[in-house]
Amino acid sequence: MGKSRRYLIAGNWKMNIPSSDAGQLIADIVAKIANVTKMDVLVCPPFTSIHSAKNALAGMAGIFLGAQNFYPEKNGAYTGEISAVMLRELGVSHVIVGHSERRIHFSESDKFINSKVRYALASNLIPILCVGETADQRKKGEELAVVTSQLRSGLGGISQADAKKLTVAYEPVWAIGTGETATAEVAQVMHAFIRNLLVDLFGQKAASTVKILYGGSMRPDNAKDLLGQDDIDGGLIGGASLQAGLFADVVKIAGELAD
Ligand code: PGA
Repeated sequence: MGKSRRYLIAGNWKMNIPSSDAGQLIADIVAKIANVTKMDVLVCPPFTSIHSAKNALAGMAGIFLGAQNFYPEKNGAYTGEISAVMLRELGVSHVIVGHSERRIHFSESDKFINSKVRYALASNLIPILCVGETADQRKKGEELAVVTSQLRSGLGGISQADAKKLTVAYEPVWAIGTGETATAEVAQVMHAFIRNLLVDLFGQKAASTVKILYGGSMRPDNAKDLLGQDDIDGGLIGGASLQAGLFADVVKIAGELAD
């Protein structure tokens, strides 16, 4: 098929894989995907494993390092926080922002998420802005309104030029870590809706360059259907990214679709 946007397969390790195991997981992934070149791969370890992951990646082109969070200030009295500069220094190029686990467990608001998106862009980090409705919101038919509001506030104040650098991830909360995936059709409807919203906000040209990833129980057995949809440009993978074989298989599926 081949798409104008390069696929991005991203692994979100969440609070898993300590530094002592990170090098081996990266080495196993690298060994399995060495020949896959037509797409991009990203791994997002916990902060303390980023350094080992970087060492294990040394010299590998096409595999990027991401972080799962950061604090949008330059430096200062923010006990327990990590800055964008600190991440850049470790070779990090992407950062996940607005993940539902941070919205839910750490009460992150749309306003705070917007400050992170803007700060990341200004710091040369690519933000992966996560949006998605809960099961209850979908049951009530509110999913489009919820995603519209998360996107409009998350992307407030961003220039058209910066919009081209964005990545968005649609992650229905009911599909995260549950084994229940959105069908390819349901996901594509939302991805096309998100693309249209991006057109409204930033114009056709910028919107067509934004990658929109799907996240929520993506695995090798559903990846082909999902990644084959017009507006699904990759995956943000939690559980299956912790096993080199499963993650590599999704990468290979994207590689085949990109051919
Ligand atoms: P999952 O997580 O693949 O385990 O559902 C996805 C995510 O939270 O990014």
